Amino acid sequence: MTSTSAAPAVSVRPGERAVAVAHPNIALVKYWGKRDETLFLPVTGSLSMTLDVFPTTTAVRLIDGPADTVLFNDRPATGAALTKIEKFLDLVRAHAGRTDRAEVVTANAGPTGAGLASSASGFAALAAAAAAAYGLDLDGRALSRLARRGSGSASRSIFGGFVVWHAGEGDGAAGDLSSYAEPIGGGDLDPALVVAVVAAGEKAVSSREAMRRTIETSPFYRPWAESSVTDLAEMRKAVARRDLPAIGEIAERNALGMHATMLTARPGIRYLSPHSLAVLDAVLALRADGVPAYATIDAGPNVKVLCTRADAALVADTIDGLGDFVTTRTAHIGPGVTVTGGTR
Ligand code: PMV
Repeated sequence: MTSTSAAPAVSVRPGERAVAVAHPNIALVKYWGKRDETLFLPVTGSLSMTLDVFPTTTAVRLIDGPADTVLFNDRPATGAALTKIEKFLDLVRAHAGRTDRAEVVTANAGPTGAGLASSASGFAALAAAAAAAYGLDLDGRALSRLARRGSGSASRSIFGGFVVWHAGEGDGAAGDLSSYAEPIGGGDLDPALVVAVVAAGEKAVSSREAMRRTIETSPFYRPWAESSVTDLAEMRKAVARRDLPAIGEIAERNALGMHATMLTARPGIRYLSPHSLAVLDAVLALRADGVPAYATIDAGPNVKVLCTRADAALVADTIDGLGDFVTTRTAHIGPGVTVTGGTR
């Protein structure tokens, strides 16, 4: 079955179509755990770098059909993936005071669900395209709050460069209003992030489920969350003074701490594979040789290595040299979301 024949016949309203492009971001101080699962309010603030690789492109157009249709990487979305997008569109419709259904066509240039932040670029692009198609006039902060409701980390992909996502204060509407991302400058730091892909398949445990289990069962969660508050404050200072070794050290300890919370959940969650550890060993060896390279890892086995632009080729060659199990892609600072079309 081709993807086109799978879509139901619908009549399209010309003009009510918008296309958005968003890039993934990698957190240097992680978001791990929600204090409100409905509003996607995080326990702690986080800080990320938006990348210039693996963009998601998403087109949303309003239709006269009875239901939303979603084409995801050329295949019709079904089940939980479809429900997640429909729920998000419901939120946009509620904001816009409209009931029209939408046709969503979305594609990731990078691997999906492999801990490479595809949900960040995905929901940032969907938020921007859907807001424009439904005629919502949102500034960056409001768009970031909207994207947050699809995937927490998506709030940060609205902006380019270094971005902080504020945990916000309080619950309910107060929490919702105060939990948004904003860019913090530091772009002239211009580091490289060597993405070491050791597995491109989808993770067995979703980050949503893993966060929940970690908060509920890991005795290490609270201590990590507390130290993350300090990490964020120190990271902001390190970015402000363009101090790459300090940024790297904080990022690495924060990420390993996050994995410690998962490993000690009950039952434990282990995203790290022997191949991830081999890359981590290579990073330690590079550092022992005087190369400032630092690792961070998300909810998957892939490792991202922060280094200077000048050292990126050496770092990538070293990791590529580990064997066939790993391939690298070097990223730099990337842009915020862009949108074309829409009803405005
Ligand atoms: O936004 P989610 O549900 O994809 O969670 C992202 C969690 C991490 O990638 C592990 C950390 C982060 O801050 O991006």
